[in-house]
Amino acid sequence: MKILASSLLCAVCAFGLELNAEMKAYIDELKKEAKEQNPSFVDFSAKNGEILFKTENIGKENKKLSCVSCHGSDLSQKAQNIFTGKEIDPLAPSVNKARLSDVKEVKKWLKRNFKDVFLREGTAEQKGDVLYYIMSK
Ligand code: HEC
Repeated sequence: MKILASSLLCAVCAFGLELNAEMKAYIDELKKEAKEQNPSFVDFSAKNGEILFKTENIGKENKKLSCVSCHGSDLSQKAQNIFTGKEIDPLAPSVNKARLSDVKEVKKWLKRNFKDVFLREGTAEQKGDVLYYIMSK
């Protein structure tokens, strides 16, 4: 537990982003779940998150999709929903303070968006990895 807590602190300070208590609790929950699924799990990886974010898959409506399809490759910029054409505000918390602040929104969209791209929910490790990637932006 001690190791988990300090690695979380470190991740947070490394990204210069202070998550609120609910988001910290969610990350801890994902870590616990990831550890249960894979005993050699240590911590999430922003690098793996980036790879996953850019991985293309034949997803919703038989379209080749990745997270980039709707959020763009530069998370500090606005992007466009590939299906609706609607503008999406930047995901990067450094330019959009509302990001990663509402745990309900984060859970809802991670679930929905993983299903859009990969046609299934993300594992705890995959969710944690992409969250670390977004936090680093
Ligand atoms: C089909 C378009 C689409 C795809 C593909 C997509 N997203 Fe999203 N995403 C959205 C929309 C729409 C929202 C909600 C609107 C908003 O928050 O601006 C959203 C919101 C989010 C949020 C909520 C952030 C917050 O704190 O408000 C996260 C996290 C997220 N997406 C991650 C991902 C990840 C990871 C992937 C790839 C697995 C992905 N998205 C793929 C459209 C998409």
